Amino acid sequence: MKPVRKAVLPVAGLGTRVLPATKVMPKEMLPVFDRPAIHHVVAEARAAGIEHFVFVTGRNKAAIEDYFDTAYELEHTLEAKGKTALLDTLRAELPDPGACSFVRQQAPLGLGHAVWCARDVVGDQPFAVLLPDMLMRAETPCLAQMTAAYGEVGGNIISVQEVPREDVSSYGVIEPGRTRGALIEMTGMVEKPAVADAPSNLMISGRYILQPEIFALLESQTPGAGGEIQLTDAMLSLMRSSPFHALPFEGETFDTGSKTGYLRASAAYGLADPEHGAEVRAILSGLVGR
Ligand code: G1P
Repeated sequence: MKPVRKAVLPVAGLGTRVLPATKVMPKEMLPVFDRPAIHHVVAEARAAGIEHFVFVTGRNKAAIEDYFDTAYELEHTLEAKGKTALLDTLRAELPDPGACSFVRQQAPLGLGHAVWCARDVVGDQPFAVLLPDMLMRAETPCLAQMTAAYGEVGGNIISVQEVPREDVSSYGVIEPGRTRGALIEMTGMVEKPAVADAPSNLMISGRYILQPEIFALLESQTPGAGGEIQLTDAMLSLMRSSPFHALPFEGETFDTGSKTGYLRASAAYGLADPEHGAEVRAILSGLVGR
């Protein structure tokens, strides 16, 4: 079984749900407490042993590329001022030289199309996909839980999370089969179903381990829900020849796709911060008590 070494991060989205904050700034660069959202996602991938990050970008996303590069002037100034702790943090969290690739999705044709844009950089090996809108917090990070499961069963694994039944139409939803330890064998999946047609309330929560055969299927995938080329539809085709398991993720999921979602994530990351957590708690209770 080939290990999962590369991760695809689709970051081409316009972020219309958080306008005007995203008018000139990519939504992935908005801070979740003290780091851009994308930083948290890359950290999760690194903790799972990912060695290469493939960002699928679009117009207006240059800040992401710069963020994962050295900032010579800034680092030089920090060094001159003796701010070594800050400098060490910046350097320690930077991916290795050559570990980031950027491919361009020229038109917003859907998540499936975005993943397909990464095909040449990923090549013929299993890979992870992390949707940066979804932040996951857990003692063992979500993708690490998934790579551990992948080591046991191989094939394809996607993270899932229970949501209230009335919310299923906003997500992809799986059709669960038998339970196998911590995993659920999947028998189907559907993108953004009507509440009445949803096969479960287990939403596809934004972390995937996929076999490279998905690329050929994405190439001929016709548009689905919302008129977009959907990853879920291609995964359903792949399921005919390659097993799919769902991992109900043990931890907290934050959907930062909305203004209040960002706020919730920021508050939670602030509360969990070892240095500032107590102060954040006092600030939040003070605000609520007004
Ligand atoms: C995408 C996926 C969907 C998944 C969701 C999680 O939808 O297509 O299956 O449940 O992310 O956030 P999007 O949010 O891009 O509409």
